[in-house]
Amino acid sequence: MSSPSGARAHWSNRWAFILVTAGSAIGLGNIWKFPYMTGTNGGSAFVLIYLACIIGIGLPLLMAETMLGRRGQSNPVDAMRSVAEEAGAGRWWQVIGIIGILGASLILSFYSVVAGWILDYTVLATQGFSGLGKAELENIFTGLLADPWRLVGWHSAFMLLNLIVVIGGVTGGIERANKILMPALFAIVLLLLGYGIAAADMPAAIRFMFHFEPQAISAPVILAAMGHAFFTLSLGMGAIMTYGSYLERGTSITRTCLYIMLADTGIALLAGLSIFAIVFAQGLEPAAGPGLILQTLPLAFAQMPLGKLVGVLFFVLVSFAAWTSAISLIEPATSFLVERFAIGRKAAVAAVCFVAWFIGIAVALSFNLWSEIKLFGLNIFDLLDTLTTKMLMPLAGLLIALFAGWVMKRPHVMEEIGLTGGAFRFWHGTVRYVSPVAIMLIFLNVIGVIG
Ligand code: PFF
Repeated sequence: MSSPSGARAHWSNRWAFILVTAGSAIGLGNIWKFPYMTGTNGGSAFVLIYLACIIGIGLPLLMAETMLGRRGQSNPVDAMRSVAEEAGAGRWWQVIGIIGILGASLILSFYSVVAGWILDYTVLATQGFSGLGKAELENIFTGLLADPWRLVGWHSAFMLLNLIVVIGGVTGGIERANKILMPALFAIVLLLLGYGIAAADMPAAIRFMFHFEPQAISAPVILAAMGHAFFTLSLGMGAIMTYGSYLERGTSITRTCLYIMLADTGIALLAGLSIFAIVFAQGLEPAAGPGLILQTLPLAFAQMPLGKLVGVLFFVLVSFAAWTSAISLIEPATSFLVERFAIGRKAAVAAVCFVAWFIGIAVALSFNLWSEIKLFGLNIFDLLDTLTTKMLMPLAGLLIALFAGWVMKRPHVMEEIGLTGGAFRFWHGTVRYVSPVAIMLIFLNVIGVIG
């Protein structure tokens, strides 16, 4: 179904789609979350389960979400309405799009605050961390969290960066920014890896991440890895569906999604290896938690050769990764406003960014002035994080799996996904059975029934 506004934009070619979608997938999840989760979840056991989840659940769902977007040729809500109509199913399947748009906007609000920390640290890194010890670095981080103006200022700056890009349009803004930022990101990862090999303890990092220890596998590790597979591939939040809707017919969804998955996983593993090589070379603690790249790593930057340069490069890398992901969180709601209500693109982007910015202020204040405001024992930041990444994401993923696996007509699925024979049956079977069961397990864990 075509959109009310007529001709839709499309990516210049399939490489552009791969680049922008990898840009969405590769973000704070890869360079901030993945390393600290690996560190706190026993290293190699977590990495192994994470890889299994990415291949077994993540990739099939990435393909399914891209397929629905391209079939629907519209924003997430109208795309779902269109594919549901084609399948002779109820209009309520649009709820997948609504969950996505709401979820993406809420993720954007706190993602931007965390990205703001990274911008702050990028500036700090230019002055160097030398002479600072563990206590001082802890004070710097707690000082940042305690300062509402600094948090809101950086959050606003980050939101503005995104607004500027997304206003530029699908090819003129999003594609163009990714074409500059993503190659730069790949180059910086390789430089850091080179540094890790040449000057840090890469063998220790490889041992930590890949030396298989079956006894370290446990239910919480499996569930953490599954949840993270969702987050890192940007699944269920309409971002992939919207980007998929700008993909030309005739491009292989299987092949492009495979490249995107490989890029996302590759960057997570290489960033993890580089970070742990530095952490181990300096005798630091890998299980430091969320502060790993903000408190532990600067300690290493303070002591190691070329630390100032490596530190700046590192935080520029994380900023770029966060930027290309945040862009993809703005596009679902933007395309919805433009196509459903015929609002101009500039006004739509401004409205989406304003709402996320406004909610983000509450997130920033939840670290200081409003830290006592709690619901279900969670402050505003934790509440939004739990609601989106632990509830809305798996819920949308479950509905996508059920729709693509059970509701959509098989010939339409085959035509759009471009698979036949055993390959089709394997993918379809995974989406029908494995994904729903796995997601139900995550869900039951989150609401406290298992785990
Ligand atoms: N995949 C991004 C990351 O790993 O940081 C986060 C993300 C982006 C989640 C876009 C969801 C989304 F729609």
